[in-house]
Amino acid sequence: METNIYPYIFRRKSIRRYNEQPPAREFLQEIIDSSKQMHPIVSDFKYEIMIVEGQDLRGYLNFKPPVGLVFSAQEHPLAGFYAGLILQKIDLLCSANGLGTCWLGMATSKHDDVDGMKAMVTLAVGWPDEPLHRNELSQFRRLDITQIRDFPYWDQILESVRIAPSATNGQPWYFKVKEDSIALTFRKRLDVKDIFVSHLRWIDAGIACCHLLLALQNQRVTFVTYVKDEIKNENDPICLIEIVRVL
Ligand SMILES: Cc1cc2nc3c(=O)[nH]c(=O)nc-3n(C[C@H](O)[C@H](O)[C@H](O)COP(=O)(O)O)c2cc1C
Repeated sequence: METNIYPYIFRRKSIRRYNEQPPAREFLQEIIDSSKQMHPIVSDFKYEIMIVEGQDLRGYLNFKPPVGLVFSAQEHPLAGFYAGLILQKIDLLCSANGLGTCWLGMATSKHDDVDGMKAMVTLAVGWPDEPLHRNELSQFRRLDITQIRDFPYWDQILESVRIAPSATNGQPWYFKVKEDSIALTFRKRLDVKDIFVSHLRWIDAGIACCHLLLALQNQRVTFVTYVKDEIKNENDPICLIEIVRVL
């Protein structure tokens, strides 16, 4: 199995057309298990990922997924953030191994919740029936880097985050950057119309953080990560990276 997922940040795209033949459960389980050993690792957070057939998914489904990886977790103020971080690793692992994926922010399983955990979000997975990868950065429809950060110190790193997927392609992240730190915050205050899907912003932030941590590792930057247990003020950083050393 290909486990070097960093290059797939620059190639992945959402897949909504799939071959009818679903991927083997064993292969999907191998992907889930491998992701647990891979950077960025999340510890002290209890979660479960269920492999669910497409017909057993419920909620908002705008296409027919062969399989859904349904993410459930314990009650936690940062459950959405961690869901984004953990499932994005799996998204990239699938992309690196020939599988198409698409996040489903409003779909979970028809079956009962895992004991003591709440089903939160799903990653649709299957063999693609359309081109799996993008060939060029220009094929990503995203904001310009200047719209998502204040200073240009870490643009090479932030380029990997700029192209991350997000619910309705909202790209809600903003980076406050210094020579020796990168703070992940939200770009704008929440509009009233967005309140219904506001929990998805946390998943988006986790996805962004996954790309950020993979890029730092790839560029051989030594860093320390601080994640807040609870965010009281909208302007507080969700995650702060302190740069220790650049090789
Ligand atoms: C949390 C989340 C929820 C999403 N929910 C849906 C969904 O319900 N249906 C869908 O077709 N795409 C969904 N997407 C995919 C986004 O629309 C897609 O990532 C974005 O438009 C960027 O396109 P790309 O992934 O091809 O780069 C979701 C993405 C995220 C991160």
